[in-house]
Amino acid sequence: MCGIIACAGVRRASEILYKGLCDLEYRGYDSAGISVKRGGEIVTVKRAGRVSAIECARRLGGSAGIGHTRWATHGRPSDENAHPHCRGGFSVVHNGIIENYAVLKEELIAEGDEFISQTDSEVVVHLLAKYYRGDLKEAVLRTVARLKGAFALCILHEDFEGFVAVKYRNPVIVGCGNGCFAASDMPALSGIAARVAVLKDGQIAFACEGGFTFCDFEGNAASLTFSPLPPQARSGGTAGFPHYMIKEINEIPAAIRQTAAAFETEGCARAFAKLRRKKFSQVMLCGCGTAYHAALAAAYAGEELIGVPVRAETAGEYRYRRRGSLAGTLFAAVSQSGETADTVEAARTAKAAGALVAAVTNVPYSALTSVADIVVPVRAGAEICVAATKSYCGQCAALGLMFSALAGGRHYRQAKRALGEAEGMCAGAISHCAVEDVARACASASAVYFIGRGADYPAALEGSLKLKEVSYVPGEGFPAGELKHGPIALIDGGTLTVAVITDPALAEKTASAVEQVCARGGRAAVVCAEGCEPEGLRERAEFFITVPRSALFPAIISAIPLQLIAYRTAVILGRDPDKPRNLAKSVTVE
Ligand code: F6R
Repeated sequence: MCGIIACAGVRRASEILYKGLCDLEYRGYDSAGISVKRGGEIVTVKRAGRVSAIECARRLGGSAGIGHTRWATHGRPSDENAHPHCRGGFSVVHNGIIENYAVLKEELIAEGDEFISQTDSEVVVHLLAKYYRGDLKEAVLRTVARLKGAFALCILHEDFEGFVAVKYRNPVIVGCGNGCFAASDMPALSGIAARVAVLKDGQIAFACEGGFTFCDFEGNAASLTFSPLPPQARSGGTAGFPHYMIKEINEIPAAIRQTAAAFETEGCARAFAKLRRKKFSQVMLCGCGTAYHAALAAAYAGEELIGVPVRAETAGEYRYRRRGSLAGTLFAAVSQSGETADTVEAARTAKAAGALVAAVTNVPYSALTSVADIVVPVRAGAEICVAATKSYCGQCAALGLMFSALAGGRHYRQAKRALGEAEGMCAGAISHCAVEDVARACASASAVYFIGRGADYPAALEGSLKLKEVSYVPGEGFPAGELKHGPIALIDGGTLTVAVITDPALAEKTASAVEQVCARGGRAAVVCAEGCEPEGLRERAEFFITVPRSALFPAIISAIPLQLIAYRTAVILGRDPDKPRNLAKSVTVE
């Protein structure tokens, strides 16, 4: 939620900030703003709308500055609620939530302050102005000591030539090259910073022309090691594709290959050798949205492979459930960004209860990895489209490899081979799946329901999530067997039902559900793995898409037509699949 960026010691700060905000826009696109330092003066432009709404700010120039792209939490998207917030010579951008903002605001109003916005963030600039007596560091330290919640901040002051960056529970990456930089993520620093370092919770960076100095929230000096910007942090633009979503679907084979390669590193092999020596009595998988669906899909095969109970639950539910000791539990938190607040907090809770925590994540420097005992690598590369595509397949691959590595060498080798085959199958499915007719049917349907049994049930949930989030066509995912217990009442001639069938043992059962839909006048489409086709189903369903069959990684293969259907439906309906309404990619609020 929200992207922040800062630079100092540069020639045209506004150009750098504007480009950085375009790279960060996936984090929120309700409003945008930039403040730059020109001489002793701070100039600010901010507006409701996408980053392009402040295109004019590119010409501001300046030697230092800060920028923000917002996903609204407190206060609707408007010019007043847009960041930066300015007061008393300060300008501030914030990513996170100030949980005690109401108490602070009341105190500041009682002291005579007037507030311009409805945001929680505005209290930060008021506190800075209140505590500033000519010593910037002291004002920052006194301010952060008053804040509760989660905050990544970038701060300008008219008497300081650079910027200050603060990190607590939301990410800040600092970078140096021809100048000093800070941003919410690494892709926004690509092209400007040659070397980067990740601020830790409770650290503050002071950047000016001469470089960085660091301290903790008590003011003690801290040091950080910079390393070269990793190549996977570069997004590379849309590379000739009309949208990131379709570019990233095309990158699924590479995501699988790179994830498998990451398991071969020495560090990963050592971590799994250590894990195998532990005797787990259960495995708990947690995540939100698409990451939860990857966890649910992996739980089916995982339990069969390691022979102990494996359960999956959404992180937002798990973290508030009362539980006893989790000694002997492997808790795998699945998150593309590694930033999702519910997932990170669920991992913290599980760790406190005695579980061994694994972070299954695409971002090796994220908050989740700092909580975890071990990291299970997903290497999908930078994912810019708000809807997760290649990261889902990367997560399915990583979880499959994790369970097979726990089961032992023979299983791991088998899974590696199967994953190599799945990579080729994905490439084939991306170029051969004909989804256009189904997408047209989705675009004109009153609702689209997705059904599946066994591991095809999470695939159905994911197909449904993908379609609704990028096209806004309503619908739901159901276990195929549940249809007749209520949801079938929804079926009429205006609805489309998409059935996923990749397990020959369950194919006939799901086929009966399709029959029931057709018998009620509903339209039906089937995504079916080769060799799983129930007799006569092709004739009865209006649409039939065949995909290759991967016995170990079915969810990776069936995801491809489902993601393509969602993408094409969004395009047919004129939606922007990369930036669906009301959404943001990293949900760092609870
Ligand atoms: C859907 C989607 C979301 C995320 C969810 C968790 O396409 O992207 O449902 O999967 O917000 O995000 P991460 O994986 O970053 O924890």
